[in-house]
Amino acid sequence: MHRDGPAIEAEGLRKRYGATEALAGLDLTVPAGTVCGLLGRNGAGKTTAVRVLSTLLRPDAGTARVAGADVRR
Ligand SMILES: Nc1ncnc2c1ncn2[C@@H]1O[C@H](COP(=O)(O)OP(=O)(O)OP(=O)(O)O)[C@@H](O)[C@H]1O
Ligand SMILES: [Mg+2]
Repeated sequence: MHRDGPAIEAEGLRKRYGATEALAGLDLTVPAGTVCGLLGRNGAGKTTAVRVLSTLLRPDAGTARVAGADVRR
């Protein structure tokens, strides 16, 4: 399947677990046809970000599209 636009387009993603701010406004664009590594210290929010992008977790705020699909929907 071919489509125009980036593979991943995230803007201002936020997720809080109680007092812990796991994602504090993540912006990320991954061009189609590329490989992207997600690096960060322990607890930086990598797993939370991937869970939001794969629709396993709903963000508190922000928008994200993966292959054009809105992860909130
Ligand atoms: N289910 C949860 N309940 C409460 N706090 C959580 C939960 N999941 C993650 N956290 C907290 O949110 C923050 C981000 O966690 P996350 O697992 O996304 O980080 P990570 O970058 O994947 O870390 P690691 O490198 O250890 O895998 C951390 O402070 C973590 O303790
Ligand atoms: Mg992790």
